[in-house]
Amino acid sequence: MARTVWDSTVGKKTVMAVSGLIMLLYLVVHMIGNLKIFFGAGEFNHYAHWLRTVGEPFMHYEWTLWVVRVVLVVAVVAHAVSAYQLSRRDIKARPTKYVHKKARASYATRTMRWGGVILALFIVWHLLDLTTGTVHSGGFEHGKPYQNVVDTFSTWYGNTIYIVAMLAVGLHIRHGFWSAAQTLGAGSRTRDRALKTTANALALLLTAGFVAVPVGVMTGVVS
Ligand code: HEM
Repeated sequence: MARTVWDSTVGKKTVMAVSGLIMLLYLVVHMIGNLKIFFGAGEFNHYAHWLRTVGEPFMHYEWTLWVVRVVLVVAVVAHAVSAYQLSRRDIKARPTKYVHKKARASYATRTMRWGGVILALFIVWHLLDLTTGTVHSGGFEHGKPYQNVVDTFSTWYGNTIYIVAMLAVGLHIRHGFWSAAQTLGAGSRTRDRALKTTANALALLLTAGFVAVPVGVMTGVVS
C-alpha cells in the first residue's frame, strides 16, 4: 500500500507538500526566534540556551532539539528525493527532445528546481557557519549565537550569501505553498485568490523578517 502511494506521482507530490509544510513551520518559528536579536545579546543567547533545555526535566539536555533536528532531516531528505524523482519522471515523459531548445518545464518549475539547489547549498553553509562554526568568519563560540551572528554579518560575503538565500527562500515558499495547497486539495475557484494572497504574504513576511537581521547588523542597530 505505502509502496503504491510512493510510486505514484500524486504520492510523491503529497510527500513534497507535507515535508514542505513541516519545513515552513520551522522557518516561521526560526524567523520569529531570530528577531529576538533586536532585544540584545543577553536575551538572544538566553533563548539559544533555552532551545537546548526545552522539556526538562523530562527531557535530557538537547533531547528536544535533537527530536526537531531528526524531523527536519527526514523532511529535507523526503523533499529532495521526491523532487528529484518527480523531475526525472517529467523529463522521461517526453520520449523525443523538442526540435527547438525550448524548456519543457514551466518557468515556475525551473525556478523551484534551481531555488531548491541554492537552498540546499545555503543550509549546508549556514550549519557550518552558525551551528558548528567550521566556516565561521570570527572566533566562533558555542553558546554565544549573538556574537556569532554579528561576526557573520560584519563580512560582505556573509551578507551577500544570506540575503540572496533569503530571496530564494521567499520565491520558493511563494510557489511551494501554493503548489502544496493544490496537491492537498485545498484549492478551489473561490479559495484560489485567498491561497495566492496567503502565499505572497508568507513569503514576504519570512524574507523581510530574516533579512532584518543582516540589515540590523549592517546599520549598527545590532552590534
Ligand atoms: C538571516 C537569517 C538567519 C539567521 C540570522 C539564522 C541564525 C541561526 C543561528 C544563530 C543558528 C544557530 C542556533 C543555535 O545554535 O542556537 C541557526 C541554526 C539553524 N538555522 Fe538559521 N538563520 C537564518 C536563516 C535560516 C534559514 C533561511 C534556514 C533554512 C532554510 C535556516 C535553518 C537553520 C537550521 C536548520 C539550523 C540548525 C538548528 C539546529 O539543529 O541546531 N536558518 N540559524
